[in-house]
Amino acid sequence: MVQVLVVDEDAERRSGIEAVLQYLEHPVVPVDRARAGEVAEQTSGLALALVTADGGEEVAVRSLGEASPDLPVFLLSPEGFSSPAPKDFSAEVLGVLDLPLRHTQFTAALRQALSHNARYREHERRPQARRLVGESRPIQRVLDLIEQVADTDASVLILGESGTGKEVVARSIHARSSRRTRPFVPINCGAIPSELLESELFGHEKGAFTGAISARQGRFELAQSGTIFLDEIGDMSMHMQVKLLRVLQERTFERVGSNKSIEADVRVIAATHRNLDAGIRDGTFREDLFYRLNVFPIEVPPLRDRPGDIPVLIEEIIRRIEEEGRGSVRVSPAAMSCLSAYSWPGNVRELANVVERVAIMCPYGEVQVENLPKKIREAARGGGEPASPTRGASEATVNGAEGPLLPHVDWSDEGLDLKDYLTGVEQALIRQALGAADGVVGRAARLLGLRRTTLVEKLRRYEIDRP
Ligand SMILES: Nc1ncnc2c1ncn2[C@@H]1O[C@H](COP(=O)(O)OP(=O)(O)OP(=O)(O)O)[C@@H](O)[C@H]1O
Ligand SMILES: [Mg+2]
Repeated sequence: MVQVLVVDEDAERRSGIEAVLQYLEHPVVPVDRARAGEVAEQTSGLALALVTADGGEEVAVRSLGEASPDLPVFLLSPEGFSSPAPKDFSAEVLGVLDLPLRHTQFTAALRQALSHNARYREHERRPQARRLVGESRPIQRVLDLIEQVADTDASVLILGESGTGKEVVARSIHARSSRRTRPFVPINCGAIPSELLESELFGHEKGAFTGAISARQGRFELAQSGTIFLDEIGDMSMHMQVKLLRVLQERTFERVGSNKSIEADVRVIAATHRNLDAGIRDGTFREDLFYRLNVFPIEVPPLRDRPGDIPVLIEEIIRRIEEEGRGSVRVSPAAMSCLSAYSWPGNVRELANVVERVAIMCPYGEVQVENLPKKIREAARGGGEPASPTRGASEATVNGAEGPLLPHVDWSDEGLDLKDYLTGVEQALIRQALGAADGVVGRAARLLGLRRTTLVEKLRRYEIDRP
């Protein structure tokens, strides 16, 4: 859903506007002129701003433009005020809507804003043709599948939890295909209101509906001879599923409001975090569409099933931070084993957020266990379960048997430094035991099956402080 900033000083009028938006189920952020810029800076994802033009709006529009240059802005013209001319404002004002706000008028504005926003998003994303890193067996298998399917025109369905890297996989298929010099056009089918998705996908002719002031190409047209990435396909309405199925079967489509068929030479990659089998069973996903998309399925495993990838992913994330001139950071062995023991419900995206956070906290320094978020430290401590040495960095399966997995499987690689690695594991377990024993060394020693004096000696050697 699109977030809407409503900039209006008049509380009563503002609540009238909010009511319409809430009816359309858009999250509303009411804000006064003085704070408009500050709030705009914090918005992310799809957003637009409505600014009431009752005098004083110029300042608000300017500060919105400065804070978030790509945020689409519409002016609202209240009854009793002369309607402002958008040309008097800078380019970010896309149009003027009358108050009281009407549903149809707002939906038309939204359409316009989305095309504006979409252009911005693609522009922003283009330079980030990101590498897919990972050395675990599960990710090597994904890389093999990508290699096999890339240079065919087969439809690919990418499945996996949120944040596992589905989009990275989609981009790397495109980058390895013969279509690589042509566009890769992503569209998030879940984020675009279903009444707008059809014209987003297929475009529309001038006058096809209220607000269609000019003809526009859809994503299928923009992706011509390239690849379209239908993200969150599991969230697509039944109505749109029928339309999409037709395009996949006949390889042609029409713009909304036109009966001229356009040929679609487009490679289709779809992705979802949903279980489509369940969708088929409860009647929210069409089985025939599923088979069309699922010609070549690729499942991206959750990060907890491949903890061996955590160190290389962290390296890659730090490399990106360095490349973008946002500093750098190193991770101590103990912190690394702590990070490897966490289950990462938000997968690589969550890992990236944590690394970015510690990079800010410890600029150019070495991240220690203490610098990690509490939930990660607690998880490493066992989260209620007794500290178990088979969890975490070493939790992986080799030929189906439980046991530690070498992070490098390629013989040309250096492998790992076993001594350093074990020291890291040892330090992490000692910290966990101390935490669980509330810093009482004797109890921690018992948890570790060590003599008290041996543990005291280790604490001194590793310079570990009791909590
Ligand atoms: N194997 C990988 N190598 C490098 N970076 C990765 C890898 N997997 C994920 N990432 C990074 O993690 C973040 C999330 O990846 P992506 O957006 O592809 O996930 P997703 O599965 O599409 O998630 P969602 O379901 O939330 O949309 C991105 O910043 C991406 O660059
Ligand atoms: Mg995604």
